[in-house]
Amino acid sequence: MTDGLFIAFEGGDGAGKSTQVRMLAEVLRRAGREVLLTRQPGGTPLGGQLRDMVLHGGHVAARAEALIFAADKAQHVEELIRPALEQGQAVITDRYTDSSVAYQGAGRDLGAKEIHDLQMWAVDGLVPDLTVIVDISPEEGRRRRGEVHDRLESEADDFHAAVRAHFLDLAAAAPQRYLVVDGTAAPEAIHAQIVARLESGGQLP
Ligand code: TYD
Repeated sequence: MTDGLFIAFEGGDGAGKSTQVRMLAEVLRRAGREVLLTRQPGGTPLGGQLRDMVLHGGHVAARAEALIFAADKAQHVEELIRPALEQGQAVITDRYTDSSVAYQGAGRDLGAKEIHDLQMWAVDGLVPDLTVIVDISPEEGRRRRGEVHDRLESEADDFHAAVRAHFLDLAAAAPQRYLVVDGTAAPEAIHAQIVARLESGGQLP
């Protein structure tokens, strides 16, 4: 049986992650892999409810926000991600634990280490084989999102600048587990870099 493969996409809002997620899923399927595509928050029935609470509800205290995102991850990993990996599937997730470390830890200033530990507890230590950071400036992200903002997206540019800087720091600290791509490059060019990285790691033929 093929080994499971776990890939996470991270980055600012409006970076173009979902396009890349779809393109990569297509390539993996053509290579004969069974692929599970998912997104966080969301992806499970409980996750859908948590997503509405945290993104589209009223005021949520910062620590409550961190716990809701952690609960979503816990449900997601137990219900979907771990079973799929155990069956040898490739799992691609649009956002994972680093989103919380960057948004709640750095953006909300709750402490990156505390949020990292909380998230690792929630997912019982499950770390992706590769995390792709689709990097985008706060200004460009805002331009691309247009007028519709959820609770996190409507934060000021300095919040998004702190989130972006934290993603880049995480990648710089563990280059073997991360790939940073420029979100302003053409989608095909970004996709080619991701495919090349997986080929060089032996994860794509
Ligand atoms: P996103 O994937 O951008 O949803 P959509 O594409 O529908 O906007 O995620 C929603 C927001 O949630 C985004 O602003 C990032 C934020 N977020 C956190 O703050 N912490 C987390 O742990 C996760 C997974 C997301």
